[in-house]
Amino acid sequence: MDSIEQTKKYWNEIHNSYERADIVYDDWLDLFLDDINKCGLPIIDLGCGSGNDSKYLIEHGKQVVACDYAENAIENVKKNFPELIDAKCFDMTEGLPFEDGYAGIVIADLSLHYFSEEVTKKVLNDIKRVLVDNGILIFRVNSINDVNHGAGVGTEVEHHYFLNEKNGRYKRFFDRDDINKFFGEWNIEYAEEEKMDRYELLKILWRGKVSKK
Ligand SMILES: C[S@@+](CC[C@H](N)C(=O)[O-])C[C@H]1O[C@@H](n2cnc3c(N)ncnc32)[C@H](O)[C@@H]1O
Repeated sequence: MDSIEQTKKYWNEIHNSYERADIVYDDWLDLFLDDINKCGLPIIDLGCGSGNDSKYLIEHGKQVVACDYAENAIENVKKNFPELIDAKCFDMTEGLPFEDGYAGIVIADLSLHYFSEEVTKKVLNDIKRVLVDNGILIFRVNSINDVNHGAGVGTEVEHHYFLNEKNGRYKRFFDRDDINKFFGEWNIEYAEEEKMDRYELLKILWRGKVSKK
């Protein structure tokens, strides 16, 4: 099994089964509520997992497309959120199956930090392509200070990108320079390092909003 298949298997096991009532979201999207309220186009939840952000967006009356490469995640969001305008199963590293300018907003919550620099830039370019001209990408990514969740663990195969040999999975961790590097081709409208207490152990991450240049 290659690394992608191994990681996908991991996510399929995590996303085994959920009920809608069990899915809770934190308040991170509140900061961008003006943008979300104004958006009249579909919003793509990229790497939706259990669908916590999809749930938030649906409850705010938005047209949401939930996307993930884990089949179980997609089965669950289809079952739990009939309001979704679509739910798509695909690997974002192979391109996003949407026409140019399809979406007003892409939300990528903790889903963009698994790839090499080359692949991350490719994914970001494709996100840009599927966004309308004044579209935005809202994201959260691991911080280099996220020591409770593997920062610095394993072999650093690229700057701040680690392979944990124990589980065969790759993770990237960002500092301010990395944010500037990866989002250099975007207007960085907001990017701050923050603490998140959604998991059992405190998580340190970056929350950001970027728009097309
Ligand atoms: C940490 S979870 C975040 C899930 C959700 N956005 C949240 O914040 O709860 C990362 C998600 O990204 C998905 N993912 C990872 N690599 C992916 C890829 N190459 N293509 C599509 N989805 C991917 C995983 O299946 C998983 O659901």
